Amino acid sequence: MIHRERRAIVVEGDEAEIPTLLGIPLGFIVNELVTNSIKYGTGTITVRLESTPEGHSLAVSDEGPGLPEDFAATGPRGLGMKIIQSLVRQIAGELRIDRGDPNRGARFTVLFPRKQAPAAKAV
Ligand SMILES: Nc1ncnc2c1ncn2[C@@H]1O[C@H](COP(=O)(O)OP(=O)(O)O)[C@@H](O)[C@H]1O
Ligand SMILES: [Mg+2]
Repeated sequence: MIHRERRAIVVEGDEAEIPTLLGIPLGFIVNELVTNSIKYGTGTITVRLESTPEGHSLAVSDEGPGLPEDFAATGPRGLGMKIIQSLVRQIAGELRIDRGDPNRGARFTVLFPRKQAPAAKAV
């Protein structure tokens, strides 16, 4: 099947220097999330990076229709979500999932510390 729909990907937020050790898993995470927004979401896909003194947040969101009702209850079934959760753990991060603004799509936010603990480095 050939898809001719045009979809925009917007990248916005802060400039940040991220060590390679973090950049590689983050690249895989964003790849899985953007692929999901292309497959299951509609509208503009936004990739947003924000920095705080403690760390960074990287969010991927789309504009609808949002995650299936049973998404949280059933836990991650797909390989993509399993890969994401494993990589988030690897960078000592935390994954938050909500509907984004204005409450209509899917938004996945990865919060991760600036400094990696030695345990995370060893992975
Ligand atoms: N952006 C999204 N919008 C709506 N549903 C989503 C989105 N991302 C993931 N999902 C849901 O979560 C499920 C699991 O995703 P994933 O683990 O990546 O598996 P897969 O992409 O192989 O289906 C998807 O099958 C889909 O139902
Ligand atoms: Mg997927």
